[in-house]
Amino acid sequence: MTGADIRRDNTLSIVGIGYGGDVTARAADLLGRADLVVGHPDFIGQVAHLLKPDTEATDVVADAEPGQDVFALRARLAGEALASGRRAVIVTAGDPGLLGMAGPTLSALRDQAGVQDVEIVPGLSAWQYASAILGAPFNGGLITFPLCLHGESDADVARRIRSAADSGLGTCLYMLRHNGEAHPELFPTDEPAVDIALRRFAMVRNAFLAARPGDTPAVIVSDLDNERPRRVTTSLLDLHSVWGEVSDTSVLCIPGERFTADSGRLWTVT
Ligand SMILES: C[S@@+](CC[C@H](N)C(=O)[O-])C[C@H]1O[C@@H](n2cnc3c(N)ncnc32)[C@H](O)[C@@H]1O
Repeated sequence: MTGADIRRDNTLSIVGIGYGGDVTARAADLLGRADLVVGHPDFIGQVAHLLKPDTEATDVVADAEPGQDVFALRARLAGEALASGRRAVIVTAGDPGLLGMAGPTLSALRDQAGVQDVEIVPGLSAWQYASAILGAPFNGGLITFPLCLHGESDADVARRIRSAADSGLGTCLYMLRHNGEAHPELFPTDEPAVDIALRRFAMVRNAFLAARPGDTPAVIVSDLDNERPRRVTTSLLDLHSVWGEVSDTSVLCIPGERFTADSGRLWTVT
């Protein structure tokens, strides 16, 4: 066993798996050697073909009590596996460092014995797939943030939206739907979660219309894990008309201010 192997035996890997099983070589290598893989069943399903036949693949959500921190539970499960000499991997869709498992797991591990080190393995994030589908709308740079992250106030989100609109940079918004719509027990809200999502979608339209021409394209890209992702294009002015296309697997893309549009593609030149 080499020094590197010894180090990795006590290393918890947090692996980004992109979308649709589109993983990096490093991610495939770690998944192929894992004894335990922890993560949402949908994500595990996308990489199941990479696992050894005897790899245990599991998640904690089904057994979690309301209010329990599922990130901490995943970290504990993986930590226990490492402590007993098994190789453990936590999987996350897209990139672990953007609304993924990396931050919460690092927090949860602070007080946990048995994990010597953490390796974070990047994966392609939703904005990168959406960018490629559309052309190169973010070539001059982009701003990306969630619209409906549980616990963030309208005031916080409004400030981010205004900054994005005023920046003239490309913008790719995640979490257009609120997690409390599907899981009110895990993400309780003071008002119907769908009302929060609708209001914030309207905030995007209003702030961008104050800063950018009304005919600026706005594109909803959905279902990146499907062979044929969905793409619905409208304008800032008509943004409200595409709300029905917005799901919890959608991002909203607005190109940078110096964009060119041609035969279905959008790009900016740097
Ligand atoms: C918790 S964030 C995860 C982001 C992920 N870590 C990444 O880097 O892409 C969840 C959000 O990612 C986007 N998303 C998740 N799955 C998607 C999919 N299959 N297609 C398009 N966007 C998706 C949606 O905006 C969703 O609300």
